[in-house]
Amino acid sequence: AMNPVMDQLARPMRDLRISVTDRCNFRCTYCMPKEIFGDDYAFMPKEQLLSWEEIARVAKLYASLGVRKIRLTGGEPLLRRGLPDLIRMLKQIEGIEEIGLTTNGLLLGLQAQSLYDAGLRRVNVSLDALDPELFGRINGRGIRSSAILKSIEQARQAGLQVKVNMVVQKGLNDQEILPMAAYFKRLGITLCFIEFMDVGNDNGWSLQRVVTKREIFERLGGDAELAAVSPRYPGEVSKRYRYRDGKAEVGFISSVSEAFCSTCSRIRLSSDGSIYTCLFASRGFDLRSLLRSGASDEELLVAIRGVWEKRVDRYSEERTEQTAASRKKIGMSYIGG
Ligand code: GTP
Ligand code: 5AD
Ligand code: SF4
Ligand code: SF4
Repeated sequence: AMNPVMDQLARPMRDLRISVTDRCNFRCTYCMPKEIFGDDYAFMPKEQLLSWEEIARVAKLYASLGVRKIRLTGGEPLLRRGLPDLIRMLKQIEGIEEIGLTTNGLLLGLQAQSLYDAGLRRVNVSLDALDPELFGRINGRGIRSSAILKSIEQARQAGLQVKVNMVVQKGLNDQEILPMAAYFKRLGITLCFIEFMDVGNDNGWSLQRVVTKREIFERLGGDAELAAVSPRYPGEVSKRYRYRDGKAEVGFISSVSEAFCSTCSRIRLSSDGSIYTCLFASRGFDLRSLLRSGASDEELLVAIRGVWEKRVDRYSEERTEQTAASRKKIGMSYIGG
């Protein structure tokens, strides 16, 4: 890139989060509750999804504007067939230094080796509880944590670096904080605690259900047990700490108690080809129509640059119980987390 593209708050564009499907094999209560995402829910028809070729084309344009990191998400990205093919295509793009995948892990064990062979190195696996009954209830499908733990083991065997994400909700799974921490410390896997956020519209969010980073940090033993680790890059989402008596790390994603919008360099591409400048955006920019109308690379570049240059989003810094309740937002499974 000649001159880096900056938004209205002087933030560069570094990360591209690509959702490859709006479907999921889980029905997490806070993301795709069964009552809304039932058997007759209308997911995106296949022809509306961007093809791998379209995604790779868009990613290449983003790389030319400064994007260095790509994260594949969903829904559940492993539900879409041929993901390794997309990874191979993305690997070839000049400027892309890192590709990650965020998954619920259920299909990861089976696919780990082919993902690794395609060039993937990092996966973030979501796991909210070890307790089988509780985990089954949270994922809405009765899936047991042992299935995910097995996948994690298989992913590591295949050579993938695994990080685990736990969304903490007060009164639901906060009693799992210590068992989860002990389990993953022993395995040397980074466990990342995520403050429950008001993404989407009906996920039952309220400030009372958030367990803050500080609270979790204290429960883990505070400064006596944990030492801060410097960020891998400016604007890294999770604040990381190392156990003083071991090699494992824990991380915190404190979007509610300590918003990180001032360094937010993330742009999101939904599976049907809209771009969003914030996780909490109420609307996106329809890139697919432009793509499919035969636009040239130059025309596409003007459009995606323009979307970023106009960007003023800083939702987490502005959040109040009021905005959480009243603002209409795009669903998490759609926008990709
Ligand atoms: P790495 O740092 O590459 O490991 O990935 P990550 O932690 O950025 O990505 P991941 O998909 O694992 O996301 C973890 C959590 O962070 C999810 O709950 C995301 O919704 C949340 N998150 C990621 N980016 C943002 C963001 O820009 N804003 C907010 N508010 N939350 C984010
Ligand atoms: N708050 C915080 N994190 C969430 N995720 C899904 N919904 C929420 C929410 N309301 C997490 C998933 C996954 C990541 C992509 O986003 O558990 O780890
Ligand atoms: Fe699926 Fe992830 Fe949403 Fe759970 S949080 S329903 S695993 S997309
Ligand atoms: Fe970025 Fe929006 Fe998240 Fe703030 S709330 S960090 S602007 S995605």
